[in-house]
Amino acid sequence: MVSDSQIAQAAKVLRAGGLVAFPTETVYGLGASALDERAVARVFEVKGRPRFDPLIVHVASVDWVARLATDFPAEAQELARRFWPGPLTLVLSKTPVISDLVTAGCPTVALRIPDHPVALNLLRTVDLPIAAPSANLFGRISPTTAAHVGEQLGDQIDMILDGGPCRVGVESTVLQLGPGGPVLLRPGGTTLEEIEAVIGPVRLPAVDAKGEQGAGALASPGMLPQHYAPRTRLIVKTRDEGSAGEHEQRPAGRIGLLAFHTVPRAEDYARIEVLSPTGDLREATANFFAALRRLDKAGLDLIVAETFPEAGLGRALNDRLRRAAGT
Ligand code: TXA
Ligand code: MG
Repeated sequence: MVSDSQIAQAAKVLRAGGLVAFPTETVYGLGASALDERAVARVFEVKGRPRFDPLIVHVASVDWVARLATDFPAEAQELARRFWPGPLTLVLSKTPVISDLVTAGCPTVALRIPDHPVALNLLRTVDLPIAAPSANLFGRISPTTAAHVGEQLGDQIDMILDGGPCRVGVESTVLQLGPGGPVLLRPGGTTLEEIEAVIGPVRLPAVDAKGEQGAGALASPGMLPQHYAPRTRLIVKTRDEGSAGEHEQRPAGRIGLLAFHTVPRAEDYARIEVLSPTGDLREATANFFAALRRLDKAGLDLIVAETFPEAGLGRALNDRLRRAAGT
């Protein structure tokens, strides 16, 4: 799908300070050279992203860590050995090679090696660290296909590499490692259970019902309560609450349902997206953002989204749902 000559062209664009959207196993990224402040500034501009929200830096190999981080703690090394390339981002204390613009003034840098042949080929070819947030407008639904990127950013960026749909479908897990021990800053494609099996207990910043981090929690600057949002109003309900309207006044208008697997009262909904008929969280995750986009385009008055079991990938999906609802 992506030829070597397209990769070579993309690397050239990145070296010249351009912006290239590329596939990763999680979501599409909007890449710029992490060593080029003007290019990084353009990423913030094009996305409409506030400057206080730091970017993840993507690298081709673990050798880059020594240049970009002052310290590579033993736990981080173990996690890197086990999960890289893969959907895990490690937040480490940064060297001056990475500018404050990339890290939004944080003394730390978020690093990951993506597990996608196109991303890896690009990173090896360009031989630079690439800062890449998800390739969507700030606060909106993350892109899992090249077409999603094109719809929102097509006319503002230099190139889109089309590697087909993303395999994982939610962003990487962001884990801070430092003197205070490991802290989960964002649940994502690598599960908490998988991480804890390698390094033992991980602290979860207290998240209150509004999705805001409680006092004393280590801040991840970009984790805002409203994010990943469709334009249509979205409410979240737990699976066993019954259909929309059993416990409250049935909302008026055309209602869409984002369902994990089975649908008890299909007749209540104008449009239904079933994420995994067999109830497989991995499949549900891969379909999640695309299904949410389809509902958002269906001319509905309300999207009702079902929660997932709060374990494994379900944690990441529930986090995205809470933020999509802005609750
Ligand atoms: O899967 C992913 O991680 C995708 C693909 C493209 O790699 N990227 C992605 O980037 O999701 P973005 O910009 O949408 O999310 C980056 C988030 C920030 O909002 C913040 O929560 C966290 O990562 N982050 C980045 N740098 C950080 C730092 N130095 N300290 C704490 N959190 C950081
Ligand atoms: Mg994002």
